[in-house]
Amino acid sequence: MAMTDDMQDVFFTKEELQAIVARLGAQISRDFEGKNLLMISVLKGSVVFMADLMREITIPCRIDFLSAASYHSKTEAVPEPEVRDILMYDDISMFDILIVEDILDTGRTLQKLSSYLLRKGAKSVTICTLLDKPARRDPAVTITPTYVGTTVANEFVVGYGLDFDERYRNLPFIGILKPEIYN
Ligand code: IMP
Ligand code: MG
Repeated sequence: MAMTDDMQDVFFTKEELQAIVARLGAQISRDFEGKNLLMISVLKGSVVFMADLMREITIPCRIDFLSAASYHSKTEAVPEPEVRDILMYDDISMFDILIVEDILDTGRTLQKLSSYLLRKGAKSVTICTLLDKPARRDPAVTITPTYVGTTVANEFVVGYGLDFDERYRNLPFIGILKPEIYN
């Protein structure tokens, strides 16, 4: 059975995602001109977005990865996400960091990661998220994303890196699963 048979609806096609990523890449390339850009992808959800976004960046840049475990159940986040520092650099004081994230949901993960990177001495920390679900934001969260691909309604989406129970990350588009799959 094909994975696509599990889909209820497609929200963003491969082509729509390409256009969104190209727009973000152009904007970031302009804004970070002359800066020392380090793009940090948050594993694992943002690897697909990162791989496409970095190829739309026209200025010199470096990439690295961080891990944040935020999920214990299949669709609900734990209150306090845990940062796993796997960065290659110990000293990040020379970098203007761009955190590359798949989705901004409650915002707790990015809040935690940004303050972690600032505490570690980053010159600056900017957030780029492909998707934003503003309806889900924790009122205690103060960070705001500078770059947003597009906003989404309060629904659990999969594909293009985003998973449900570690599956569907390899779908080239973003959509929602049939209700019986989530249950
Ligand atoms: P936050 O800390 O609540 O903002 O959670 C962010 C993380 O939750 C993201 O990096 C995703 O891994 C995951 N997440 C939140 N919403 C969704 C969704 O709709 N589909 C898949 N993963 C999601
Ligand atoms: Mg995830």
